[in-house]
Amino acid sequence: MSQRTLVLLKPDAVRRGLVGEILGRIEAKAGWTLGALELRTLERDTLEQHYAEHVGKPFYEPLVEFMSSGPVVALVVEGERVVEGVRRLTGPTDPIAAEPGSIRGDFGTITRENLIHASDSEESAERELKIFFPGLA
Ligand code: PPS
Repeated sequence: MSQRTLVLLKPDAVRRGLVGEILGRIEAKAGWTLGALELRTLERDTLEQHYAEHVGKPFYEPLVEFMSSGPVVALVVEGERVVEGVRRLTGPTDPIAAEPGSIRGDFGTITRENLIHASDSEESAERELKIFFPGLA
């Protein structure tokens, strides 16, 4: 089933020069395509909408601060079962718990700087795509 999902390559991925490596892993999956791609520094307002469900959690402020600390690469990925698929490429939140072979498992060590965000469901993807790419059909 063809889907689309929102991916953010976080400021640590951009700072560390890992954009090409991570994009390459996504692009290498058969049939997946990039629907949009943009380098941008996120405003607090955008992040408050994006992370609305996490307001009040202990990691919320550090997360918003980190996500606005430098540019991110925002992209739309389209293709077969892409929501679950990108999440599996990404690995779990804690990079030390992430399997080697996953993006976080290969490149991350601390939870805050975990390199990549990917929508966790089709519903989240549609909500998040409206925030980051409101012009998308
Ligand atoms: S929850 O409570 O289970 O829904 O949280 P989780 O899905 O694991 O994480 C939600 C987002 O918060 C980020 N996160 C953190 N950021 C900074 N510091 C700490 N300690 C931290 N813990 C979790 C996590 O990476 C998720 O962001 P995204 O952008 O979705 O990856």
